[in-house]
Amino acid sequence: MKKFILFFFIQIISVSIFSNPILESLIYKIRDPSTEKKEFREYLEKIGEYIAIDVAKDLKTKKQNIKTVMQIEAEHNLVDENIVLVTILRAGLPLFNGVFKVFPEAEAGFFAMQRNEKTLIASIDYVALPPMENKTVIIADTMLATAGSMLNAIKIIEKRNPKKIILICALAAKEGIDNILKHNPDIQIYPAYVDPVLNEVGYIVPGLGDAGDRCYGIK
Ligand code: PRP
Ligand code: URA
Repeated sequence: MKKFILFFFIQIISVSIFSNPILESLIYKIRDPSTEKKEFREYLEKIGEYIAIDVAKDLKTKKQNIKTVMQIEAEHNLVDENIVLVTILRAGLPLFNGVFKVFPEAEAGFFAMQRNEKTLIASIDYVALPPMENKTVIIADTMLATAGSMLNAIKIIEKRNPKKIILICALAAKEGIDNILKHNPDIQIYPAYVDPVLNEVGYIVPGLGDAGDRCYGIK
């Protein structure tokens, strides 16, 4: 019982859902089966931008002064973190592009992975990462289902000693969130929306189908 309460508490402090009807209207649109690829990618990019702005409020900032044309100084709080932005191909790419617009100075890293449809285990086909020591690593992937793909990425990234790891996803399954926090309760997760379950073939339900196919067509 104590363990359950502790885990529930960890979930509350580690999962930040930016509840907003504009963001929710974008989730509504990507769930709609009639949304075509181009619009689907554009909506995901917007979702990435909105969540990234929400993430920024929790980052370390420093005060910076600027002298305006009025010859008066104004003081502002600006993000003070070295950010590495990582994604998992294919479906993570549009979300990543949206996050990148908010953190254009970030370094970038890429994984290519593919879930085996039967075993649901994701194979790692490509890894290209910059140095990560003491940096804030943000992983953007559209779907967090079993969390197998994300955990593959996290385990590789953890070995590179980042300062912290933040996850951004459009749609997350509760099971995927639980699996991440069981592995590492310090990871901060920012899902645009959380769905309750996975079906028997590992798809999020109600979900939106195969995100990679919705973005780029059938493999
Ligand atoms: C999607 C998505 C995630 C993964 C999530 O990729 O982009 O990486 O599924 O599922 P998991 O949490 O159960 O690992 P997918 O494997 O469908 O490949 P794709 O992006 O190339 O279509
Ligand atoms: N990957 C997807 O693209 N969709 C899901 O529902 C689960 C994993």
